Amino acid sequence: MKRVAIVGAGPSGLSQLHAFQSAANKGIKIPQIVCYEKQSTWGGLWNFTWRTGVDEHGNTCHGSMYKHLWSNGPKEALEFADYTFEQHFKKPIPSYPPRPVLLDYISGRAEKAGIGRYIRFNSNVRDVRYDVVKAKFTVTARDCLKDREVIEDYDHIIIASGHFSTPNVPYYDGFENFSGRILHAHDFRDAREFSGQDILIIGSSYSAEDIGSQCSKYGSKSVTIAYRTKPTGYNWPPDFSEFPSLLCVKNDKAYFKNGYSKKIDAIILCTGYKHHFSFLPDDLRLKTENRLATSELYKGVVFNPNSAMFYLGMQDQWYTFNMFDAQAWYVRDIILGKIVVPDEGSRVLDIVTRQKAEERLVDGQAGVCYQGAYISELINETDCPRFDVNATNRAFIEYIGHKKKGIMTFRDNCFESAITKKLAPTYHTCWTEAMDDSLDSYLKK
Ligand SMILES: Cc1cc2nc3c(=O)[nH]c(=O)nc-3n(C[C@H](O)[C@H](O)[C@H](O)COP(=O)(O)OP(=O)(O)OC[C@H]3O[C@@H](n4cnc5c(N)ncnc54)[C@H](O)[C@@H]3O)c2cc1C
Ligand SMILES: NC(=O)c1ccc[n+]([C@@H]2O[C@H](COP(=O)([O-])OP(=O)(O)OC[C@H]3O[C@@H](n4cnc5c(N)ncnc54)[C@H](OP(=O)(O)O)[C@@H]3O)[C@@H](O)[C@H]2O)c1
Repeated sequence: MKRVAIVGAGPSGLSQLHAFQSAANKGIKIPQIVCYEKQSTWGGLWNFTWRTGVDEHGNTCHGSMYKHLWSNGPKEALEFADYTFEQHFKKPIPSYPPRPVLLDYISGRAEKAGIGRYIRFNSNVRDVRYDVVKAKFTVTARDCLKDREVIEDYDHIIIASGHFSTPNVPYYDGFENFSGRILHAHDFRDAREFSGQDILIIGSSYSAEDIGSQCSKYGSKSVTIAYRTKPTGYNWPPDFSEFPSLLCVKNDKAYFKNGYSKKIDAIILCTGYKHHFSFLPDDLRLKTENRLATSELYKGVVFNPNSAMFYLGMQDQWYTFNMFDAQAWYVRDIILGKIVVPDEGSRVLDIVTRQKAEERLVDGQAGVCYQGAYISELINETDCPRFDVNATNRAFIEYIGHKKKGIMTFRDNCFESAITKKLAPTYHTCWTEAMDDSLDSYLKK
């Protein structure tokens, strides 16, 4: 019997387990599966930790999420086709759930499918080697509870370890002498820490928008966003400013490219993340930018230099949970021998063609449709649960419009489920006034 290793039990790794389990439920013989998860529970980034730096076992801390984080896209755009929000919560819920609500949803689906039995928690993969002669991957993991090494061989390995966990940390002149706190978004845990402070945010993407909004919502004095390429361009409240790049910091003052300077109390680097796989050797390590059409991955999942190896969820993400399902079902069917991977030349052509198409995209809306089409392409080759991709593209496009209209109010909108076709109810409190992000508070009428 074939043996398959999965690294990570976040949303991507769980999708892979669901894919295999759904085949098993249909009477198809599936390989032996071991899913290694370094944390003590599933859910990946959605599993909040107060820790920063290292975890309880001394491994790098995976968590990048923070208190009060709410979904930044409508939940209807990530809903599982075979497990709706309504099915899980036994009633329709509003469109922008806070983190604990989404974790509960992911957990409910995993519990229902009984896939926990495949997962070895507290197991940190430390090394993977491929033996060309034996055609086997040797995985070395640390059982962190027993503090011992476990080495096993597999026919396939699926990397689902995420790519928003290793921070990209730029240096600016004067950082070492800055009198306040400097941290990366990866280590940001609670906006209330910055109440009453003048905050400088570097970067102009999702983390910058959301951490800036959070800090303002929880009482910071002012938020300055320093962008490298282009401003966010949103209609920010009066306590916000957007400046071109930071040049340097001198004591408690930040100096910008446009000649302005400002006294600041803390700097939050919202400068993105690196695809970083410390547990993989050079020949198995994916090297790609954070983009929609990743380098080195045929159909976005098959590692071109070694087609017995797969990566899930390595794209820049409009779509998330439902894209991971589409990928996982596709990878499963390759491993089960239902889909044949072509020769290396054809794989390279596939990657180049996708990247060229991505380079022609003109804006975010085009990016959404591009990723939607990719998902449809994968789903059409397997029995992955189907959903209305065009309706979901439209939801994303509407959401982009809502953000342009009001960056502090877009989460107050409601969307129709592409699966149940029901419109979500309005949340009882608007986002700027909703301070309690607990599951109980969210679910109450
Ligand atoms: C701050 C933040 C907010 C986000 N908000 C949203 C949002 O609102 N909506 C949305 O759809 N998406 C959001 N995302 C995107 C997020 O990437 C996906 O939702 C999702 O978590 C990706 O799932 P994943 O399984 O690929 O990776 P992760 O969630 O990162 O899971 C990877 C898992 O692999 C494990 N792992 C890593 N290395 C090892 C190892 N060596 N050995 C064993 N286990 C290992 C980790 O512990 C983790 O459990 C957000 C991301 C960030 C950083
Ligand atoms: N639920 C939520 O509300 C929420 C909150 C935060 C994050 N997220 C998710 O987290 C993921 C990552 O988002 P992200 O914003 O952290 O990363 P990101 O989208 O990759 O953006 C990185 C930002 O950092 C800037 N940058 C990179 N290097 C820089 C440098 N040396 N100097 C100055 N600026 C630099 C980039 O600027 P350029 O444009 O110049 O390249 C870009 O604006 C996304 O999937 C997002 O959806 C969700």
